[in-house]
Formats: sequence, structure tokens, C-alpha cells
Amino acid sequence: MSDFTSIEFKDDKLILIDQTKLPIYEEYISTDDYERIAVAIERLEVRGAPAIGIAAAYAISVAFKNPSEITLEYFDKVYNRLASTRPTAVNLFWALDRMKSVFNNKINSSNIYKILLREAIKIHQEDIEMCSAIGQNGLKIFKDKSNVLTHCNTGKLATGGSGTAFSVIQHAFKNNLVNHVFADETRPLLQGSRLTAFELSKAGIPFSINSDSTAAFLMQKSKIDLVITGSDRIAINGDAANKIGTYNLAVLCNYHKIPFYIVAPTSTIDKNCLTGEDIKIEFRDKKELNSFRSEMITKSEYDVYATAFDVTPHNLITGIITEKDLHLPPFDFSNI
Ligand code: MRU
Repeated sequence: MSDFTSIEFKDDKLILIDQTKLPIYEEYISTDDYERIAVAIERLEVRGAPAIGIAAAYAISVAFKNPSEITLEYFDKVYNRLASTRPTAVNLFWALDRMKSVFNNKINSSNIYKILLREAIKIHQEDIEMCSAIGQNGLKIFKDKSNVLTHCNTGKLATGGSGTAFSVIQHAFKNNLVNHVFADETRPLLQGSRLTAFELSKAGIPFSINSDSTAAFLMQKSKIDLVITGSDRIAINGDAANKIGTYNLAVLCNYHKIPFYIVAPTSTIDKNCLTGEDIKIEFRDKKELNSFRSEMITKSEYDVYATAFDVTPHNLITGIITEKDLHLPPFDFSNI
């Protein structure tokens, strides 16, 4: 089966696979307009914590391709627009801040576009390397050939490289340590049944899609050996924000005595967050819950609680895998 490219910078343009159309259509967005990239992040055409950071870094670069002005005011305008797109994935702010410090140091350089682009490519390249190291470190959590359950999407679509949790699963599969993957469909935007299924299929890993509410039943029937998910922001004490429904899984794992692992690059650790209480949680438009593909599925006047993320407390996490290591409790990321 042919492979795919999720995020690429080519001929001075950012090329993104449109994740809202997958897996039915493989269409690409090609742009050198930072506003278009901001909209792509808002619409989840590009999504997943590391991928959002990479896209934002390229967006800053293209904003300086043919700029009408090279001033701190213009940089801040672009920075603030990108920073306003999504609040939870810290990789976005981490990448924007890296771009800002390069800009601040080189504001008077003759080719600021090339300098910013070099930093964006570096951020992208580092993520590719982190994904491989993560996959390798993740092998430590497997004892035998296992059935794995995962939530949301954490592969090539969500990162610059082979993924976070997905990279662990793929490395383990290649080492004959994965029997079957259960992909939570991941309500309401179906990152599991659309995107993780697409990636698992491309990678040739046996899988099935299940509704989010099936996880407890699967565990009760001893069909799950471990649960592995990504994260959008990890606090110093190990509390981890991830797609809504992740906390449910951690609680279920605790009840059923199943290991629960979080996987993320260290760019996902936010040293400004002492605990999960400090993590800003995104709320989405109620249309994502009360309608499906523009068709109402309930009455528009009904109130909707459309949170996109939850926070899993550190005491429910068996281990956190980064590109540096498999970290075991008690977690303390203050010096990472
Ligand atoms: O709203 P999304 O699709 O951007 O949410 C993404 C997730 O929750 C992923 O699990 C997370 O970014 C993992 S990082 C690869």
C-alpha cells in the first residue's frame, strides 16, 4: 500500500494532507499564507500536538517570505494569530517561542525568511528524530506479544515523524510484540476511526475500530494487555492532558489492573505547569457535537459541553515514554 506524506515544506510552500477528509480522500493543502495555516490548525486540517507546532513554525517563516515590513510588531501579530488557534497543545507555544527567539536575535539580518525557515526545518527534523527514539524507548514496556488499545491519533499525521504512541506500537509490531490494536473511534471528530485506522492500515498492523464506550467491555473480556496514548501537555508532576476520553481509559485500566502509558516528546512537557490544574483545556464549537457533517443530530437550542481534552492524574499513569527514556513514578519533570 502506498505511503503518504502528512507535512512537508517544498518549493517554499507548506504542504499538508487535509486530515478532515481522511481516510476517504487523500487531498493536500499547499500554501505560503500564514493565515491559511492558522485556519488549517483551527479546522483540524492539521492536528496533533507536535504537528501543530511544526506547522506554526513554518507559518512564521512564510509570513516573512515577502513581508511588507520586518518589525517586531508584525512578528507579534503573526505570533499572536497562530497562538490563538488552539490552547492546549503546548508544542504550539514551544515552537512559536523558538521562532521568536531566533527572530529577536536576527531581526536585522538581510534574509530573515531563510533564517526563520532554517529554524522551522530544525524543529521538524528534531521531531522526526524524537519520534524514532520514542519508538525505541517504548519497547521496554512490552513483556509479550500484546493487544494494545489506543485513543485519538498519534502517528505520522500528528507529528513530523513516525509518531508518539503510534511509534511505540509500530516499533513493537516490527519486533513481534503487538498482536492486535484496538483503535478507539474518538468522539466526536473520529481521529481514531478515520486517522489511526488509516495509519494502522498503511503500516499493515492488524486492528479493529471500537466505539469509545466499548473499552470497558474489552478490558472485562481480557482483550486488552495495555493502553498507550499520546499527550498534548504534561505537567511537571506527570499529570497529562490528552483527547477527551483518555482519563476514562486510565480509570478503567486502574480498575482492571492494566498498564496505562503516556507517550510524548519532551517538547510536550510544560515546565510552567506544576500540575494538571494549570493546563488550559480547549472547548470546541458545539456544532462538533450536535451535528454530523453539517446535519443536526439533536436540537440546536440544547446546551452542549464540548471539551476537547481531559487531564489524566499522574497516579493513574504507569509510565511516560519520551525520546529520553521510559519515566516511571514518582514523576518529576522539573529538570528534563
Ligand atoms: O484535537 P487533536 O486531534 O489535535 O488532539 C490530538 C490528541 O489528543 C493526540 O492524542 C495528541 O496530540 C497526541 S500527540 C501525537
